[in-house]
Amino acid sequence: MNQPERLYTLYWKDGRLYILDQRLLPHRVEYLSCTRYREVADAIREMAVRGAPAIGITAAFGMAVAAYEVLAEENTQARLRSYLAEASRELFKARPTAVNLAWALERIEKWLSENEGLSLKDIAAGLLREAEAIYREDLENNRMIGINGCALIPDRASVLTHCNAGALATGGYGTALGVIRASVAEGKKVHVYIDETRPLLQGSRLTAFEMLHDDIPATLVTDNCAGSLMKQGKIDLIVVGADHIARNGDTANKIGTYSLAVLAASHNIPLYVAAPLSTIDLALPAGEDIIIEERKPEEVTCFGNQAVAPDGIEVYNPAFDVTPAKLIKALITEKGVIYNPDQEKLYKLFAKV
Ligand code: MRU
Repeated sequence: MNQPERLYTLYWKDGRLYILDQRLLPHRVEYLSCTRYREVADAIREMAVRGAPAIGITAAFGMAVAAYEVLAEENTQARLRSYLAEASRELFKARPTAVNLAWALERIEKWLSENEGLSLKDIAAGLLREAEAIYREDLENNRMIGINGCALIPDRASVLTHCNAGALATGGYGTALGVIRASVAEGKKVHVYIDETRPLLQGSRLTAFEMLHDDIPATLVTDNCAGSLMKQGKIDLIVVGADHIARNGDTANKIGTYSLAVLAASHNIPLYVAAPLSTIDLALPAGEDIIIEERKPEEVTCFGNQAVAPDGIEVYNPAFDVTPAKLIKALITEKGVIYNPDQEKLYKLFAKV
């Protein structure tokens, strides 16, 4: 087992990409060691690494891995170009909903088109530097999201979150959990309710792990507890991450987010979405255009290795749903907070960049 001094979602060492295998958390800390881009694509597809920004960062490193593969085996520019194009296509296909994946690959392709004359060695090194920059910038963006989101979290707030939009899902610190972390760092007392997040339990396995690690008071609940908690007055606000935000503000996030948004509206509780600009897709007009990933039935029919449904039952297992912008009180980004997000405000936000 290769373990760095602190828990990184991924890291690069001695020509290899190490990816924390989040499927094993919270019980085991193990890293996958990747020297082939196909291993990186598998890690994304099989959700060893997950969370929109982390997927994007991983794909960028996957391109550097591909370049080093060619460098080790065969030294022609043409081979490098065709292999990188193939790697980009494969990595892109690994998961369809999180737009950060396409965003990171586009950024890598832009770097490649701007650096055509370089040697193979310099291209591989340059791709690695670009991936590292994407990683570093995501961490910085999360810290800004935290700072910007702080103002929305009152002292003694009771906050509900869904899935894991924390350090593990990003370059570090987290988006939704970054807002919580920043509020706690400011001295606010915050209590976090964590939805377990069926079927893959990112809430109970990962968010609970992060909150315990940081000593942030938290309570784990089943997903179907949310409405009852709201009715009892135990939730002041909801903060979640995002996988794909259309230009009208409609937001895809982990399945169950839409149900929370509807419940929140009927209890007059604000729902905030915390996400970097790399999750906003100005090319996409509205939420109905977002491709929603459907995953295998076994995620629902089994609990761990234990079957919990009869053989042969039909299953519908979308990994995400779309919350319409009108149910989102504000979008918290590294460039500021956008209340009642809509197309005009999102265009303006990008005009500031
Ligand atoms: O299927 P996952 O675990 O990749 O889904 C993750 C989420 O839905 C997160 O809320 C989202 O990616 C934001 S992570 C900062």
